[in-house]
Amino acid sequence: MAVSRVLTPRAVVRPIVATSVFGARRRHLQQAASSATFDYEGLYETLLHRKKQDGSYRYFKNINRHVHHYPYARTEADKRVAVWCSNDYLGMGKNPRVMQAAEEALNSYGVTAGGSRNIGGHNDQIIALENACARLHGKESALLLTSGFVANEAGLTTLGARLPGCVILSDQLNHASMIQGMRHSGAKKIIFAHNDMADLEQKLATLPRSVPKIIAFESVYSMTGSVAPIARICDLADQYGALTYADEVHAVGLYGPHGAGIAEHLDFAAHEAGQPHGTLMDRIDIVAGTLTKAYGAYGGYLAASARTIDVVRSLSPSFIFTTALPPMVLAAGRAAVEEQMNTMADRRALALKTRQVKHALAAVGLPVIANTSHIIPLLIGDAELTRAASEMLLRDYQIYIQPINYPTVPVGEERLRVVPTTDHTEQITAELVHALQAVWTRLGLKDRHAWAREAEQRHPLMDPALEVEDLWTDEQLGIRAQDPFLYGQESELEPLRASA
Ligand SMILES: Cc1ncc(COP(=O)(O)O)c(C=O)c1O
Repeated sequence: MAVSRVLTPRAVVRPIVATSVFGARRRHLQQAASSATFDYEGLYETLLHRKKQDGSYRYFKNINRHVHHYPYARTEADKRVAVWCSNDYLGMGKNPRVMQAAEEALNSYGVTAGGSRNIGGHNDQIIALENACARLHGKESALLLTSGFVANEAGLTTLGARLPGCVILSDQLNHASMIQGMRHSGAKKIIFAHNDMADLEQKLATLPRSVPKIIAFESVYSMTGSVAPIARICDLADQYGALTYADEVHAVGLYGPHGAGIAEHLDFAAHEAGQPHGTLMDRIDIVAGTLTKAYGAYGGYLAASARTIDVVRSLSPSFIFTTALPPMVLAAGRAAVEEQMNTMADRRALALKTRQVKHALAAVGLPVIANTSHIIPLLIGDAELTRAASEMLLRDYQIYIQPINYPTVPVGEERLRVVPTTDHTEQITAELVHALQAVWTRLGLKDRHAWAREAEQRHPLMDPALEVEDLWTDEQLGIRAQDPFLYGQESELEPLRASA
C-alpha cells in the first residue's frame, strides 16, 4: 500500500460511492478497487510526528551491561560508559548467588515454563517465590505476575471492576501501570494532589462510607523520590472505610530490616524485633512489588489476604492468559529476595552512597530535588535541554543518564534522574560531579539557587533548597556523627558559576 501523504484521522474514512449500474457483485468489486482504503501508515506517521514535535518521542540508547564491570556498560559504538540510571540498585542482577540460582534452574528446567499457570506452567519455583513474597510482607498470600506493571494492572483492574460501584482515589503522581489498571477497571477515579492528605480527606468525605473505595499510592515515587505519608493514609482509610493499595516497586529490597519497603522501614524497630502486629505493613491491604529493580531479576507480584489474592488469581485475564515466568528468572528472584531478607548490608551501603552523591551534587550547586529516598532528581525544566544534557554526558563524558520528559513528568519539570547503586565508587561519583558541572556550565542550565528563587511559584518539591531528613537514620545505618566516611571526601570542586 503506497503512502502518498499524511492524513489526519478525520480525513481517512471516506464514503464508498457506486461507480457502475451493472450487477451488485461487480459494483462491489469496482467500489473496492476505486475507493480509498484507510491510510494506516499515514496515520502512524502523523502520530509519530506529533510525538516528535512535542518532544515526547522516545529515543532508546543501546546500553549493554557488563556483568563483571557493573555499573559500566558498552554502547553500540563499543565505548565504555558509566550508567547512572539503572534500577538494579543493589547489583543483584550480577550477584554470584543470584546468578548461580538462575543457572541451576536453567540447567534443571530449560528456558521456558512451557505454559500458563493453568496449563503446565505452575511449578516449585513459583510456589517458593510466592511464599517468599508473602512472608516478606507479612501477608497470607502472594501472586506472581509477569512484571510490576502487570501486577498493578491486574490488581487494580480486578478489584476496581469487581467491587460494586468502587471508587479509586489515586495520587496525582501514580505510575502509568496503576493508571492503566484503574482505567481498565471502569471504576470511578478521583485524583488527589500528590501526598496531600487534606485533599485526600476532602475527597473521601464526599463518598458514602458504604461505597467500596481503594486509596492507591506509591510508597516512594520513582520520578520525584518523594515518600508517601503512609500512616496518615492508613488512618484515613480506616476512618472512611477504604482499602489501601501501596505500590512498593521502588522500595522493596531497599528499605526496612528485611527489605519489605517503606512501610516496613517506618516501623523499623518493631519489624527488627519480629513484632509486625498493628504496624503500617500490617495495615496496608494490598502491596504491589517487583523483582525487576532492587532484586535484579524479573517479574512482579501482589501480596494481600488469601481471598484478595485468590480473587485476582481467579478473575484477572492478565494473570490467567499468559505464560508463566521462566523458572531461571524465578529462581534468581527468590535468591535475591531471600538474600535481602537476611542482610541489611547492601541497603545500608546504598543509603550511604545516596547521601554521598546527594551531598556532592548539592555542594557544587547542582539542583537536586530534595527528598528522603534513594532517587536523586536533577531539575532542568526543559525537554530539549534535558535531552541535550543527556546526549552531552554520553558523548563527551561517557556517562549515561536518561532524560525524563513529559509525559513521565509534567512539562516544565523535565529532569535527569540520577540513581546511585552500591557499585558506584567514589571515583565514579567524582567523575559524575565533574561532568555534570561541565554540562551545566556549557548549556547554561539553572543552578540550585536559581531554582530556589522560583520555587515559591511552583510545586514545593521543586524547591532544591528544601532540607529533609533521610529515611535511613544515622542510627539505622550504624554511623556516628564523627565518622569521617559519612559523606565521603569533601568535594574539592568549585561551585557552579553559570546560572541562567
Ligand atoms: C512505581 C512503579 N510501579 C510499577 C512499575 C512497573 O514495574 P516493572 O518494571 O517491574 O514492570 C514501575 C516501573 O518503573 C514503577 O516505577
